[in-house]
Formats: sequence, structure tokens, C-alpha cells
Amino acid sequence: MPYVNEKNLTDVVLERWKNIPDPRLKQIMQSLIKHLHGFVRDIEPTEAEWAAAIDFLTRTGKMCDDKRQEFILFSDVMGVSMLVDAINHRLDSGATPTTVEGPFHVPNSPQLADGGDMAKGAPGIPCFVVGQVRDLDGRPVAGAKLDLWQTDGDGLYEAQRDVSEPWMRGLYRSKPDGSYTIRTVAPIGYTIPMDGPVGELMNRTDISHMRPAHIHFCVEAPGHHRLVTHLFQRGCPYIETDVVYGVKEPLIVDFEKKPAGAAPNGEKVDTPYYVIKYDFVLQKAAKAAAA
Ligand code: BEZ
Ligand code: FE
Repeated sequence: MPYVNEKNLTDVVLERWKNIPDPRLKQIMQSLIKHLHGFVRDIEPTEAEWAAAIDFLTRTGKMCDDKRQEFILFSDVMGVSMLVDAINHRLDSGATPTTVEGPFHVPNSPQLADGGDMAKGAPGIPCFVVGQVRDLDGRPVAGAKLDLWQTDGDGLYEAQRDVSEPWMRGLYRSKPDGSYTIRTVAPIGYTIPMDGPVGELMNRTDISHMRPAHIHFCVEAPGHHRLVTHLFQRGCPYIETDVVYGVKEPLIVDFEKKPAGAAPNGEKVDTPYYVIKYDFVLQKAAKAAAA
């Protein structure tokens, strides 16, 4: 083994890490070493800067618990979560695109009837989401599971409210013709959590820390690619600067304002309300996996 110097150090480390029986782990470690050394050679950190970087990562880890995941937030604001999403969901152009899941999904939401209200008691403008789940050939997908979660009209998720019952989330099933109707309240744009190391870093930039108003969906049906996505409100001021890079053009929808009266689920609403119309197009599972 040669003794190390600044010039040969990367090659010496690559050589040491080359006999890894798992070929995937070997590929990952070789690439990590190349890119990490390349980054350090590029920025030439002082020892104080390197210690600050280690301190940032340490505090990021310490901020994580079962409710808060500061490392995922870091991945989100660096655009890495969306890159991993893009690599893993290369769908046909007609299929509804995926976007980042985010940290606020709560499993096992209550099952609601078609047209049922997932926002009982929550502040916000009444909002109805109506449409169809279908496949790329235009055939309706019956019995698809639609799992929704979102902020209330104050911009807060369940995890940010002191509630003991499910808040702003629900499970629906598409009907035999693929149609679905959801009753909720309109979400509003909100800030990502800014009280940790990621917020501290963001505050040293001029980058917006806001997410545009959106509703999260996970749409699943046997034989189809699992779709994790959002619908974003057209015209929301944060749509072009989403802090986690989650916005894709086909996911921007009109929140149509309607006067008080009979709503799509038959309910009589005594204030103006919104209607969002959106058809989810699912790709066959095998096709998506082969893409
Ligand atoms: C969200 O949409 O819920 C979200 C996604 C990434 C970071 C923070 C929040
Ligand atoms: Fe969200």
C-alpha cells in the first residue's frame, strides 16, 4: 500500500473499499467515496467548517423522533427526495405523475363513504374533490383506495394539532364506474418546520420556506402502480417556489368557487365552496416496474 498524500488519498481509499461481496453495496460505496472526496476537494473546508458540518448533521439526527424527521426534511429541501421519486416512478406521459410523500401521512385513516366529510369540525372553506380513477386505456378502476391527508384551513396537519381523533385525513373507495366524491375543506399554503437545523440553514438563504396549498393522495388498486401524489391549487403564490420541488404541471388544478347551495355530494352548503375536478390515471404495475 502506498503511503497517502493529498493527491493519491482518494485512490487509496477506493482500493481499500473495493472487496465488498455485495455488488450493489460496492457500487454505492465506491460512488460515495468518489463524490464525497470530490466535494471536499472542491470546497476545501477549513477544520472549523468541517466541524460545523458534523455539528449540523449531529443536531439534525438529534431532532428526529417518531413525529419529526429532520433528515427527510433536509433531503426534501435539497431536492433529493424528488430525485429519488423521479428515478423510481418513470411513468408514461398519460399517467398521473407522482410527487414526494412528505412526513405528515398517518396510516390507517378512517374509512368514509363516497361523498363523506374528512374535515368534520375543521376550519376552512368547504371543498369537494370529484372525478374518476381510470387506467391508461380509459377503463374505469373500480374499488381503488384513495387515502387523503392535508392541512386544515389554518395550514395545520394532524401532527401539529392537539387532537386525539383523526384530523384532515380519510380513506375512500372509487365506485364501480371509477368515480369518487370527497368532502373536505380547502388547504392553504404552509411553512415547513423551521425550528431545527434545516430551518437555520434556510434562514441563511433567500429561499422560500413555503409549500403551495395542496391535498395529498395515495391511490392504490390491485395490478396498478401505487400512486403517491398531491393536487396543488392553481394561482397559489408559492406554486413556482415550492421548497421541496414537488410541483408538476399536470398536478395543478383549479379550485372552482361555487355559490352557496347544493354541493356535489348532495349536501346543502350555506357558504360559498370550492369544487376540484380531477381524474387519476393509473399505470399497470408491471409496465411501471419494467420502465
Ligand atoms: C408535505 O407536503 O407534507 C411536506 C413535504 C416535505 C416536507 C415538509 C412537508
Ligand atoms: Fe403537505
